[in-house]
Amino acid sequence: MRKSSMNEKVTFRVFRGEPDEDGDPFGELVDYTVDLDEGMVVLDVIHRIQAEHAPDLSCRWNCKAGKCGSCSAEVNGKPRLMCMTRMDDILDETPKDQPILVKPMQAFPLTKDLVTDTSWAYETDKKISPINGPEVPDWTFYQQEADRLQEFRSCIECMLCVNTCHVMREHKMFEEFAGPRFFVRLASLEMHPLDTENRIPEIKEDFGIGYCNITRCCTEVCPAGIQITDNAIIPLKERVVTDYYDPILNPIGTMKELASGVFSVVTEKFGRKSDPGNLTMAKDALANEKDRMAEASKIERERTERARQRNRSK
Ligand code: SF4
Ligand code: SF4
Ligand code: FES
Repeated sequence: MRKSSMNEKVTFRVFRGEPDEDGDPFGELVDYTVDLDEGMVVLDVIHRIQAEHAPDLSCRWNCKAGKCGSCSAEVNGKPRLMCMTRMDDILDETPKDQPILVKPMQAFPLTKDLVTDTSWAYETDKKISPINGPEVPDWTFYQQEADRLQEFRSCIECMLCVNTCHVMREHKMFEEFAGPRFFVRLASLEMHPLDTENRIPEIKEDFGIGYCNITRCCTEVCPAGIQITDNAIIPLKERVVTDYYDPILNPIGTMKELASGVFSVVTEKFGRKSDPGNLTMAKDALANEKDRMAEASKIERERTERARQRNRSK
């Protein structure tokens, strides 16, 4: 590993900008060179840039200990917490003489520079039914049940998983899809041994769990090490399948679902086994997905063109 040493300098290429009149990010990448001290993390360098070059550079942080989830950004294109990202590791991965790229999270609307607007998270949280425990507090809570929930409770709400998920990042399905962070929250409630609420209908319909195709990108970037896909999303998908698509437990519901053409990616295996109709639904879903991707790249091209025109007229 490359170690930072005294008197070494480092150049950060930082996004500076604000939203334009359409709400799209508009700005430029600015290079700043500062001294690097041993043991620094990315957030330290940002603070040094603020102190020495750009006091108006906006970034959000609170704890500097990986606990508050405020300092999320994209460093060298990878979503990370700036306070937990060691400069030694960043130097290690950055080609020599190349600047280190620091940008805000790309999935969320830009507020300014490295700060994004994540208020969507608060709105989504409000839509989730809270825990509904027993009337009489006469219960036994086993350690293994506590351990299972503890993983979910370690979420620091940094939103790095949401920023990484293609359903949000490329397709902007913030209304239709709860995203990995909130599947973690839903799993913590659904798997709570004392909870009596049934959120499976909402998880299927309102929170759109079928849009998740288990790419595991969210799990890879989670700084809390939560196995989002394997321990939260897949068990929730299994519960949806059991409630809606199990022909033995729910024969009428299953027929209704198939007849109405509702398709969930998680039924792929089930569909192959039992019903050729699901193949048609899968093809339709794929075609819809292609349409959505074409629409997303059209919007992206138009946005780039608008930015170019603005640059030309500057
Ligand atoms: S596993 Fe699902 S939630 Fe996670 S990034 Fe992939 S599509 Fe998104
Ligand atoms: S699940 Fe992990 S990545 Fe997602 S918000 Fe929580 S801590 Fe951050
Ligand atoms: S400042 Fe709190 S997680 Fe980075």
